[in-house]
Amino acid sequence: MVFHSSSLLVIVTTALFFLRGQCKPLNVQTRGICATEEPEPSFLNAVQRVHTNEVKNQGSPARDGPIEIDTWFHIVSSSAARDQVTDDMVDAQLAILQTAYQDAQISYQLQGVTRNVNDVWARNDDELGMKKALRKGTYSTLNVYFQTDLHATPSQVTRILSSKTHQHQQSPQKQQRSSSNSPSPSTSKKTDLAVSVLGFCTLPDPNINATSPQSAYIKDGCNILAAAMSGGSLDQYNRGGTVIHEIGHWNGLLHTFQGETCDPNDPGDYISDTPQQSSPTSGCPASRDSCPDLPGADPIHDFMDYSSDVCYESFTAGQNQRMRSMWGSMREGK
Ligand SMILES: *[C@@H]1O[C@H](CO)[C@@H](O)[C@H](O)[C@H]1NC(C)=O
Repeated sequence: MVFHSSSLLVIVTTALFFLRGQCKPLNVQTRGICATEEPEPSFLNAVQRVHTNEVKNQGSPARDGPIEIDTWFHIVSSSAARDQVTDDMVDAQLAILQTAYQDAQISYQLQGVTRNVNDVWARNDDELGMKKALRKGTYSTLNVYFQTDLHATPSQVTRILSSKTHQHQQSPQKQQRSSSNSPSPSTSKKTDLAVSVLGFCTLPDPNINATSPQSAYIKDGCNILAAAMSGGSLDQYNRGGTVIHEIGHWNGLLHTFQGETCDPNDPGDYISDTPQQSSPTSGCPASRDSCPDLPGADPIHDFMDYSSDVCYESFTAGQNQRMRSMWGSMREGK
């Protein structure tokens, strides 16, 4: 097993559909669309097991004390954007990350920053080759790839267009149709839209153990659109929230709107202190309640919703505990 495509969590903004030939981003309206298929059953079984243990231990985490995660940042730039990611942006992004995870007693020990200029890698068109060349450490080492031209792979685009979340929102297919109405035959040939993504990470894989070879988890890590780093150029998404959100997935958290239903029997994100939420938040509304008949309003300030960066504030106690339990059972010592 090299790679479970369905363990990717992809965040996309509908508004980040670039018309090829125009190369002009539309306004960013929403953090977007999750292109994820349901997480693997083996992952959900592991989450259920961890959840049951948390309840049994009456809220005391399976893992005591501070958690320090060895971390590598890889800056991967196109030649056109080789100066886009500055050292100051890297420092600021790391500081924001540390603050967000303080309450969880999780810190990221930066082991190093690599820099590469490679147009193919910057677009993520050779993810495996890039990660074979750059990935450092073991399964418990966090590798974050900041790519200047990150966009969705064809299979991710297919998932995005057919996803439930997408159907709640503005339709990129509509945009695609309108672009194909373009009067110029030369642009109408290029009707396929490149889908930019803010980022995605792999969830922990319960099949990895301490003796698994690196080839079994070579794709493990986080891919982030460099413009979505703190200090990046992406309006509404340049305060570092994307990195916090995505690393939440790497630590084993699901979206607060997981399941996308108000059915009280649906396990949702398997976290008891995040209210049931049937659709993602976009932007930063004053308040929102997608399941009005159930207790609690939507957790619009939670890092695992889709709100804009300025809206992001915290993880819940249950999420902090979950990340600690998941570290202890899924990554530590591997
Ligand atoms: C560890 O995982 C590898 C695959 O990554 C598998 O081939 C091996 O059988 C596993 N070992 C144990 C002891 O479970």
